[in-house]
Amino acid sequence: MKLIVCENYEEMSKEGAKIIAKLLKEKPKCVLGLATGSTPVGMYQELAKMNKAGEISFKDVTSYNLDEYYPLAPEHDQSYRYFMNHNLFDHVDIDKSRTHVPDGLAKDPAAMGKAYDEAIEAAGGIDLQVLGLGPNGHIAFNEPEENLYVGTHLTGLTDSTIEANSRFFASKADVPTQAVTMGIGSIMKAKKIIVLASGKAKHYVIEKMLDDRITTQVPGTILKCHPDVVLLCDKEAYNG
Ligand code: F6R
Repeated sequence: MKLIVCENYEEMSKEGAKIIAKLLKEKPKCVLGLATGSTPVGMYQELAKMNKAGEISFKDVTSYNLDEYYPLAPEHDQSYRYFMNHNLFDHVDIDKSRTHVPDGLAKDPAAMGKAYDEAIEAAGGIDLQVLGLGPNGHIAFNEPEENLYVGTHLTGLTDSTIEANSRFFASKADVPTQAVTMGIGSIMKAKKIIVLASGKAKHYVIEKMLDDRITTQVPGTILKCHPDVVLLCDKEAYNG
């Protein structure tokens, strides 16, 4: 794992955008794996700026998002589909018909998950996966547990994740208690992964990411077994 410690959130966002921009220039028809949450917002803004300036284009990009609340309609203003449209897709030249978010209303989530993973494979696999880290070490919505799933699946959210994400909802009671999420296998198949982490709340996980052990109780640590991971964090996340 390559570690890059940035001065602050802004620098981390720019570094992340640079890595994605490099891929877009080298492989315009790439497949991106995308994350939601507060952490990648600044990086998405940087990418939108670069796109507007004509430095990069998303017009041949295909994207697959990590996760979606369940059950939640894509039109809901807290859905991850809505988040992606508002924070990235509406501001770049991407063809929205090639952007994918797991179906938060799937009647058969297991079948949807299997089809989602198959669609990623059929698209040639993810060239670059963007990840954030939950304060509890989750990646996508793979929460700390004894057993983790390989493929895209329906999962329950831990109380700490519901609490952490309640900042976006009117109240904690409004946060869905389930989500559909890529599994650890879906994520580990990506050719390259960038992990972003900012702020003191992520210090605990960063420490776990940098020791020499892996544990399903901090799912992000499994990324240590991937051959091409860049961990981008700011000084607050690094120093605590
Ligand atoms: C988002 C996702 C989550 C977040 C994580 C960190 O699609 O899969 O794992 O990356 O919860 O969220 P923020 O960035 O809001 O701290």
